[in-house]
Amino acid sequence: MGLGFFTSFLILALFFRPFLCQQPNTDGFFVSDFLQKMGLSSSKGYNFSAPICTWQGVFCEKENVVGLVASGLGLSGLIPETSIGKLNKLEYLDLSNNKITALSSDFWSLGSLKALKLSSNQISEPLPNNIGNFGLLESLDLSSNNFSGTIPEAISSLLSLQVLKLDRNRFESRIPSGILNLHSLVSIDLSSNQLDGSLPDGFVAAFPKLKSLNLAGNGIRGRDSDFVGIKSMTYLNISRNLFHGSVIGVFQEPLEMIDLSQNQFQGHISQVHFNSSFNWSHLVYLDLSENHLSGEVFSNLHDAHNLKHLNLAYNRFSQQTFPEISRLSGLEYLNLSGTNLIGHILAEISEFPTLRTLDLSKNHLNGQIPLLSIKNLQVLDVSNNNLSGDIPVSLLEKLPWMEKFNFSYNNLTLCASEFSPETLQTAFIGSLNSCPIAANPDLFRRKSPQHRGLKLALALAISLVCLLVGLLFLAFGCRRKTRMWAVKQNSYKEEQIVSGPFSFQTDSTTWVADVKLSTSVPVVIFEKPLLNFTFADLLSATSHFDRGTLLAEGRFGPVYRGFLPGGIHVAVKVLVHGSTMTNQEAARELEHLGRIKHPNLVPLTGYCLAGDQRIAIYDYMENGNLQNLLHDLPLGVQTTEDWSTDTWEEDENDGIQNVGSEGLLTTWRFRHKIALGTARALAFLHHGCSPSIIHRDFKASSVYLDSNLEPRLSDFGLAKIFGNGLEDEIACGASGYVPPEFLQLESGSPKTLTPKSDVYGFGVVLFELITGKKPVEDDYPDEKEANLVTWVRGLVRKNQGTRAIDPKICGTGLETQMGEALKIGYLCTADLPLKRPSMQQIVGLLKDIEPVLHQ
Ligand SMILES: *[C@@H]1O[C@H](CO)[C@@H](O)[C@H](O)[C@H]1NC(C)=O
Ligand SMILES: *[C@@H]1O[C@H](CO)[C@@H](O)[C@H](O)[C@H]1NC(C)=O
Ligand SMILES: *[C@@H]1O[C@H](CO)[C@@H](O)[C@H](O)[C@H]1NC(C)=O
Ligand SMILES: *[C@@H]1O[C@H](CO)[C@@H](O)[C@H](O)[C@H]1NC(C)=O
Ligand SMILES: *[C@@H]1O[C@H](CO)[C@@H](O)[C@H](O)[C@H]1NC(C)=O
Ligand SMILES: *[C@@H]1O[C@H](CO)[C@@H](O)[C@H](O)[C@H]1NC(C)=O
Ligand SMILES: *[C@@H]1O[C@H](CO)[C@@H](O)[C@H](O)[C@H]1NC(C)=O
Ligand SMILES: *[C@@H]1O[C@H](CO)[C@@H](O)[C@H](O)[C@H]1NC(C)=O
Ligand SMILES: *[C@@H]1O[C@H](CO)[C@@H](O)[C@H](O)[C@H]1NC(C)=O
Repeated sequence: MGLGFFTSFLILALFFRPFLCQQPNTDGFFVSDFLQKMGLSSSKGYNFSAPICTWQGVFCEKENVVGLVASGLGLSGLIPETSIGKLNKLEYLDLSNNKITALSSDFWSLGSLKALKLSSNQISEPLPNNIGNFGLLESLDLSSNNFSGTIPEAISSLLSLQVLKLDRNRFESRIPSGILNLHSLVSIDLSSNQLDGSLPDGFVAAFPKLKSLNLAGNGIRGRDSDFVGIKSMTYLNISRNLFHGSVIGVFQEPLEMIDLSQNQFQGHISQVHFNSSFNWSHLVYLDLSENHLSGEVFSNLHDAHNLKHLNLAYNRFSQQTFPEISRLSGLEYLNLSGTNLIGHILAEISEFPTLRTLDLSKNHLNGQIPLLSIKNLQVLDVSNNNLSGDIPVSLLEKLPWMEKFNFSYNNLTLCASEFSPETLQTAFIGSLNSCPIAANPDLFRRKSPQHRGLKLALALAISLVCLLVGLLFLAFGCRRKTRMWAVKQNSYKEEQIVSGPFSFQTDSTTWVADVKLSTSVPVVIFEKPLLNFTFADLLSATSHFDRGTLLAEGRFGPVYRGFLPGGIHVAVKVLVHGSTMTNQEAARELEHLGRIKHPNLVPLTGYCLAGDQRIAIYDYMENGNLQNLLHDLPLGVQTTEDWSTDTWEEDENDGIQNVGSEGLLTTWRFRHKIALGTARALAFLHHGCSPSIIHRDFKASSVYLDSNLEPRLSDFGLAKIFGNGLEDEIACGASGYVPPEFLQLESGSPKTLTPKSDVYGFGVVLFELITGKKPVEDDYPDEKEANLVTWVRGLVRKNQGTRAIDPKICGTGLETQMGEALKIGYLCTADLPLKRPSMQQIVGLLKDIEPVLHQ
């Protein structure tokens, strides 16, 4: 009987519920009504008659809209009732950068919201207590609106809140004590409002996870002791408030950026010892300007050798010499204006290569201006001192290219007349008086060489640019070779400001992300559009794509493991082998893949286009892939170990909990579950998507197991992004998954992949699941040809299929079912593609032999 029986079986199994990738649903009405009533015309590229889930900025789960991003669309006016307020599954809403003036009353029933972004609109009303309805909210951004009144106490209900941004509104009176409930807060920004009063008691200590606090630009009264108990905070900004006391109490671990400017901090700071547990080398940004600090500048500053920004301007310091900051050579901004300095400018600042802004105005400095490193210098103010002598020629030559300079009210000699009369009248006030133009003919004659000097500088600058361009070309030419760029190590916000190009090496490849500034390359996370991740976050998530985070090196390129901020566990797949698609096409394709959801597919979480690298970001799969599970024993497990003795357990819901994955494979039930789930995934890609998706590279290592040990298929759709070269590659591969039509065709004949190529691959994986043997190069009893397919097909043909069953599968009475499963594999691996069943049919066949739970 065998095969005859099977063909009739197959015909019976020919009914299936068709599934579609996206379908219009009732949420579509609410969204289109909202967009149209808010003034969005279909001319903006929206096709209101297309299914909602295909619209740009709309994210669906099943048939519900869970995410809506309508930022910068010019939406204006009131949000109408019975529109987006009715999207009861909505989790992410971004309406930023529009002209919205008011919210609807049903807006407050969006109880599923996890992230809400309304920033940069014109909403002019108090925030109602209804905000407490959003109990699942993790991120709330209402910045740059016109919200007024108090911040409601009901905010205390937002227990999951991590990000709170209410800055640039007109909120007034005290910060409500309800905020103390929000223990998950990571970032608070209440800056630029009209808040006053003091901070609620225990404010800082209430937020153990708080990293960033900005209260700047309010009228809050407080003192240094308000900040005792900082735990995680690296950023503190209380600029422009009414804080007083000694700044010393504020310096606490692990602060890196401190802005206390424009407050009323006082005290003789030079005489007090700063808390010794504060590590000055972590400090990156310090602004104490416009307070009432007295005494001299503290000597601990010398240890802050990673400091980039230092502003001590306008305090009440006693007369002092230039502070000892010679180790702070990474400074980019130095402002010591009005700090009562006498004596000479510290000579060492001429060796600060990154200095961009130097303000030494309003002091009593004398002597000459040192030879500054002018490479990055853009702002220089030495006005109102007693400096004398010539301005260094290199500096004079740089001035025309600088943003701002001021030499007024000194005793400098300036005889160059390249400057326009206006410049001379504003930037050199009081310095010209002493220029002995008339008195000293030598100085007068220096005019023309200096003029040439400027031209020379211009010529030099141009040739430098050419040289740079040339070098850049050279660099690009080399980068396909194994050349490594040193990844700049930078302590300031370490990964965030590093600039590229970046080069990374694995055992088999070197890949380069040709991006200039890692923070300027966005990472798109489909379901969390409000988290503005950048390539810099990928760098830090993977420790600069460190080999230690490498999970695998697949056909497409290396795969890394990482945690994005917020604890998002991801697998980062770099598609290194070049792509024929443009950035736009690749982005469109990846967005499309991101919308394809099925319980048996590994979800594509997001992507990043870094230079010409396409980087796909997937949910991390906790339990590895089928290839490892079947063929590679976990580390530390002996090959001789008897798997059948491993314990495993199932609960009522068919979920398998916390068992060593090796043990799972001892049941046919589990192996069948993997086969069926994988078949469902392929059937969905082939028949449920339009246009249908051919996986093209299906194999055991494409099947992953998630945290519930559900099988999930990965890498679907990537081949397309790769272009057609891959098909030749597949044909060349000897992996054991290549369908015979690819091996047999004469070279030169077209090799077209069809869904039936995937079906063949599925058959091979099914054989692997049942026999526990690898597709090639394993031990196949009584078989000379080293190939799983020919071996099993031979046995099935002789009706001896059960001899191929993996002896590690325990339990008896299931041999018949496993024999039938082998026959399904037999059909799938038919030589002629036409004879292979479709994946829909295979799902039906597998369901019919599903083992029932009986033990
Ligand atoms: C809009 O979508 C509908 C349904 O998908 C389609 O038939 C129609 O051609 C689309 N119109 C445009 C202008 O793209
Ligand atoms: C903000 O609200 C105030 C008072 O309601 C109003 O005078 C002002 O024009 C509003 N500003 C904007 C930009 O809407
Ligand atoms: C502090 O906040 C104010 C207002 O938002 C801003 O202008 C300033 O740049 C901030 N300081 C730092 C160090 O970010
Ligand atoms: C120093 O700071 C730690 C915690 O940051 C605190 O426990 C300790 O009391 C402080 N010591 C002084 C002298 O301020
Ligand atoms: C400060 O931090 C740096 C780098 O994190 C570390 O090397 C150094 O030992 C620390 N210093 C103190 C005094 O803790
Ligand atoms: C230096 O600091 C003072 C006080 O904050 C400020 O007014 C001035 O603009 C700063 N100078 C520069 C060049 O930024
Ligand atoms: C300015 O410096 C000169 C010496 O260079 C000195 O004689 C003079 O007293 C100084 N003037 C002031 C106001 O400090
Ligand atoms: C200006 O500098 C010259 C020397 O360069 C000095 O002779 C003169 O006294 C200085 N004038 C003032 C007002 O400091
Ligand atoms: C330079 O400083 C002087 C004195 O502070 C001031 O009057 C003048 O406007 C400044 N010029 C420029 C260009 O900033």
